[in-house]
Amino acid sequence: MRVLLIGSGGREHALAWKLAQSPLMTEFYAAPGNPGIAEHATLAALDVDDHDAVVAFCKEKSIDFVVVGPEAPLVAGIADVLRAADITVFGPSAAAAQLEGSKGFTKDICARYDIPTGAYQRFNNGPKAKAYVRAQGAPIVVKADGLAAGKGVTVAMTVDEALAAIDDCFEGAFGEAGAEVVIEAYLDGEEASFFCLCDGKHALALATAQDHKRVGDGDTGPNTGGMGAYSPAPVMTPDMVERTMKEIIEPTMRGMAESGHPFSGVFFAGLMITAKGPELIEYNVRFGDPECQVLMMRLKSDLLPLLVACANGTLDQITAEWRDDPALTVVMASQGYPGSYAKNTPIAALPIGGEGEKVFHAGTGLKDGALVATGGRVLNITATGKTVGEAKERVYALAGKVKWDNGFYRNDIGWRAVEREK
Ligand code: AMP
Ligand code: GLY
Repeated sequence: MRVLLIGSGGREHALAWKLAQSPLMTEFYAAPGNPGIAEHATLAALDVDDHDAVVAFCKEKSIDFVVVGPEAPLVAGIADVLRAADITVFGPSAAAAQLEGSKGFTKDICARYDIPTGAYQRFNNGPKAKAYVRAQGAPIVVKADGLAAGKGVTVAMTVDEALAAIDDCFEGAFGEAGAEVVIEAYLDGEEASFFCLCDGKHALALATAQDHKRVGDGDTGPNTGGMGAYSPAPVMTPDMVERTMKEIIEPTMRGMAESGHPFSGVFFAGLMITAKGPELIEYNVRFGDPECQVLMMRLKSDLLPLLVACANGTLDQITAEWRDDPALTVVMASQGYPGSYAKNTPIAALPIGGEGEKVFHAGTGLKDGALVATGGRVLNITATGKTVGEAKERVYALAGKVKWDNGFYRNDIGWRAVEREK
């Protein structure tokens, strides 16, 4: 099978590493890729925003299957353009990607299909939104409707904070994404990420993970794209997984199909496990980054036929097997992230990693043949272990061998699970 992978982050390196192990793979390209992905695939200098150029590349190279990693090209409709050109693709249509692209769209599906989630209202102007916040009181959550690179959500502990967040949205802090605001009840509990393939008619549960969104130890400081993750999430007991499938995933799948936009791709459900059970915080329509890295370390099955079954509507004929051992990943980021940071700082040494250890590239590049950091999140130091605690020890031992002066990382990834293990 001739495959093109779209994306350039740590998630895509993990997907590339796993896909390259497939005996079905005959030719493997990635665009734009990164130096880690280049170990597994031929990098194509393609502008992935130019969908016609992507189709032309697929025709030229006789690509059988395209895997889309990030959400932006999906929301922009790359899967529709590829399908129209008769190319099989892993990833939802633009209409189905609204599950991530519009928080209001998802909330309306929840309301229509009785999916447990925080009570909410949608607003297109400040005064009405503020009146609603004053009536509801705090804590309360203010969200820009559209894609805001993970920055559009304010969990306001006071009414004043919520009012300020509403002003930010309508004054353009998130551009177009803030033209509409969703105000939502605060949910109290432990968060977990749940991953599930869906082919429009069938859903196949994959695995669970827990992310660490704040930049600092002890879950302090500003939100980021994720500073580390582990899988599985102990809070997702078999009973919680079953309830999530029945109460959240299956009605969503049905809702999308009935609305004429069947969902094909991966559901990444951000959940809050409250006293009542699992409640939906949000959907993403792609694998999590860095959650994907720990999922791929634990997946025993061949990834390629799973993604192909998802694209072809045959998920009912396939299963996924997982290693019992947990996996953990720590993100090494550039000093200053999630604010501004220096680019092209040299990475002098990277450890190879032994069995069950892997350093994924997230924001790296080559400058005059030398490895440099090009992004905010740069490396994902990843390992498995008999326990989360053991995986954590292996990860931090490996991280200590990275020679990159401008890098930093959290020291407490996995703390909830490690505490549980004690
Ligand atoms: P999101 O971008 O929707 O994932 O939101 C970012 C973070 O805000 C989530 O990971 C949660 O920690 C928090 N959050 C979002 N919605 C709620 C809610 N209704 N109640 C409590 N926390 C929330
Ligand atoms: N790590 C969170 C995300 O990928 O959205």
